[in-house]
Amino acid sequence: MSDIDEVKSRLNIVDIIGAKVPLKKNGRHFKALCPFHNEKTPSFIVSPERQMWKCFGCGKGGSVIDFVMEYEHMDFVEALEELAQKAGVKLERRVAETPQAQLKQQLYAVNHLASEYFQYILTKHALGEKARQYLKHRGVTDKAIKTFALGYSPNSWDALARFLRKKGYEPKVLELAGLLVPSPRGGYDRFRGRVIFTLRDHRGNVVGFSGRHINSDDKEAKYINSSETPVYNKSNVLYGLDITKDAISKANEAILMEGEFDVISSFQAGISNVVAIKGSALTEGHVNLLKRFTERVIFALDSDVAGDAASRRGIEIADRAGLDMRVLVLPDGKDPDEAVRTNPGLVKKAIAEAVPIYDYFMSSALKRFDIQTPFGKRKLSDELLPVLAGIENIIVQSHYIKKLAGVLDTSTEAVSEGIVKAGKAKQRKSVSLPQADEIVQSRSEKIALYILALILQGEARQWYRSLIEQIAISDIDHPAIQKVLEFLKTYFNDTRQFSVTSLASVLPAELVPTLDSAFLLDIGASLEDLPKRTLEWQRALRELKRDILHRKIKNLTSQVGESPQAELVKLTATLQQLENPS
Ligand code: CTP
Ligand code: MN
Repeated sequence: MSDIDEVKSRLNIVDIIGAKVPLKKNGRHFKALCPFHNEKTPSFIVSPERQMWKCFGCGKGGSVIDFVMEYEHMDFVEALEELAQKAGVKLERRVAETPQAQLKQQLYAVNHLASEYFQYILTKHALGEKARQYLKHRGVTDKAIKTFALGYSPNSWDALARFLRKKGYEPKVLELAGLLVPSPRGGYDRFRGRVIFTLRDHRGNVVGFSGRHINSDDKEAKYINSSETPVYNKSNVLYGLDITKDAISKANEAILMEGEFDVISSFQAGISNVVAIKGSALTEGHVNLLKRFTERVIFALDSDVAGDAASRRGIEIADRAGLDMRVLVLPDGKDPDEAVRTNPGLVKKAIAEAVPIYDYFMSSALKRFDIQTPFGKRKLSDELLPVLAGIENIIVQSHYIKKLAGVLDTSTEAVSEGIVKAGKAKQRKSVSLPQADEIVQSRSEKIALYILALILQGEARQWYRSLIEQIAISDIDHPAIQKVLEFLKTYFNDTRQFSVTSLASVLPAELVPTLDSAFLLDIGASLEDLPKRTLEWQRALRELKRDILHRKIKNLTSQVGESPQAELVKLTATLQQLENPS
């Protein structure tokens, strides 16, 4: 047995997925709301027999390893390692490791070492003295320096590069890690003379760095960040999450801030459910990450989220993900770092009083536009209607429709109409807005898959026989389903006892996904008793026949010229009989 099979065989997919997603028994499968897209009725199915999962809403699915990859944002090897540990399996060292995964490991390792180097300079070395003073002056404690792995990069062109070369890393790797800026003379350290913030993913891997200069007369940017690398993508990193994720889960609330110092100062003041987006806009990557730890996000950003298009986009993504969003307004226009250091109590109060985001949008717009004038009304509605059009939940939306109608002193019908228009305009503009990719299936394909599902999950041999007695498998419109049904002929000839596992082990590999789609398809727990199931089978079979006939008739009538009348008459008669059995 391979390592992979060994790991899979020792674990039960229901336990592994069940630990993350509340599963409900549903016939022979388990069912849940899909953790990978936003849905209101469950289409996420887990099969203990096949040790597989599949979401019929977004199309994702696979083995327990695929689940961990998807859920934990891991690559294949990472997921396998994690599961091997759970299963108590010792892996043949990295046999399956791809070059890409190897490179990532190497980048994590070199980044980790760089982080330790920066920390050492800051906390132990004479060169770190100025930075130590700087942080002390900003109220950062030694404990926080350690928790957040703060450091200092000496003001030198090659101090870090020399250190890492001595540890055996080639300049090429340092370049790939974004630590070395390439140049004709072999490259130089990206971070020089800066306080260093170690950027880690939520699992604690060091993915990159940001650095703040400590000389106010420095002409370079106040902050610089690692370049994008195979392990660092700024749209996927939330600063501090590795430290604060437990507090976020526990509070079921994340406070979203702008910068590193905002996070550190808040954390020191006992407000620990915080993360920073580092001055960028909220992305889908951020939202997906947050959604795994919390249902509520409080925006504590420097800029007015209502007045900023990029923020509005992020908010729409978060709304679609079902996050409860609030906005916190800090006194005197301070950022959280300053506010919390002057008066932590006031910040805590502001958090408790954070307002729902759409109320905030309204009050922000009301402050900026004079709605006593028709022009002001128009500006206000131009800003708010598209925002309200983006609210996914209809109850929440109608709440704000009433509210806006009140503010504008107009009817709710007028506002609703405006929202419909704004929604349409938006759809036209943003075709590329990310959406859960839905599986597009033709009606014929749906019926064929359902028939296969009923056979596999029901009276397999018996129903298969009744199928081939009544229809020709070559009339099934979908090639893969047709092939599986074709294959079942030999399978039932050779096998006494039907089991989906044995079928999967002999079926051509390219057909196994189709088999699983059918086997995991939710045919309803109500079909558990045989009489009901049999009725449903007969109904489905009629449906299939009708579909086949419809298709044949359509094909014939579309053949212009010498249309085979006799054939057409025969088919139509059969169809009529099927539809009105007397
Ligand atoms: N930022 C960045 N690159 C810049 C400027 C800002 O990545 N050139 C990010 C940093 O993470 C910064 C955040 O955007 O923390 C917010 O920027 P800003 O408000 O200008 O800085 P502060 O967080 O207030 O930083 P400080 O208190 O150190 O001045
Ligand atoms: Mn600041």
